[in-house]
Amino acid sequence: MRGWIVPPPKAPTKTATDYARERERKVRGLESRGLLKSPRIKAALLKVPREEFIPRDYRDYAYCEVPLPLPGAAATISCPHSYPLFYEPLGLDRGHRFLEVGTGSGYGAAVAREVVGDEGLVVSIELDALTYDFAKRNLQRAGYSNILLVLGDGGLGYPAAAPYDRIAITAACPRIPAPLIEQLTTGGRAIAPLLEDDRQVLTLITKQPEGVRRETICDVLYVALRGEYGTEAPATAFPPDDAMAAD
Ligand SMILES: C[S@@+](CC[C@H](N)C(=O)[O-])C[C@H]1O[C@@H](n2cnc3c(N)ncnc32)[C@H](O)[C@@H]1O
Repeated sequence: MRGWIVPPPKAPTKTATDYARERERKVRGLESRGLLKSPRIKAALLKVPREEFIPRDYRDYAYCEVPLPLPGAAATISCPHSYPLFYEPLGLDRGHRFLEVGTGSGYGAAVAREVVGDEGLVVSIELDALTYDFAKRNLQRAGYSNILLVLGDGGLGYPAAAPYDRIAITAACPRIPAPLIEQLTTGGRAIAPLLEDDRQVLTLITKQPEGVRRETICDVLYVALRGEYGTEAPATAFPPDDAMAAD
């Protein structure tokens, strides 16, 4: 596990053409590293303008492999490779009912929306009201009206739209919260950074009739999940020394 050095804020200088070129280069790089395989996830990453989900003074770094700060107590947009890192093992696909815990910028929800298509569902829950408002504005500006954004404790899930085929928890927690396992379909998968001593291990679970199967993927570094199923540590202002994202 390692920390992150957040680049200094600065006025944006890049053009839409620069961002488009960087986006394509990033996607090619993720493919060549073997992190990105699904054509639908690839198409989504090529389509969603990540720069639209980043505060103005960090926008030039949109395609750098570093988490960037967002409005709110302890929120960041995770670094670009985190999205295929989560969505590939989940097998996120057309038609899935998807729940995200930790909306952050709204970028992950927008990418998921593109992957699941019109026949799927995206629900995303954010605990911090400032972060929630930021994500809501980003998604509106980028034209995503078909994502159900919820302000609340994502550890409790969102039973009104359950069950979900896939769940991504984008903050580190001691274990997958029980309400989320309840709200998962049989055969459904959930992914989360789980705390193990001083490590965070990205862990995939599959809900089966006989119980939950668990696979570990790699060490990562994310902000802590707060709320009923989170850790006891209080939220800290950014940048904490555990600035988050996948390694
Ligand atoms: C790494 S950021 C999420 C990045 C986001 N997926 C994106 O694409 O920008 C983690 C987020 O989880 C939120 N969070 C922490 N505890 C939460 C909880 N119990 N319920 C919902 N959101 C929570 C934080 O406020 C933060 O915005």
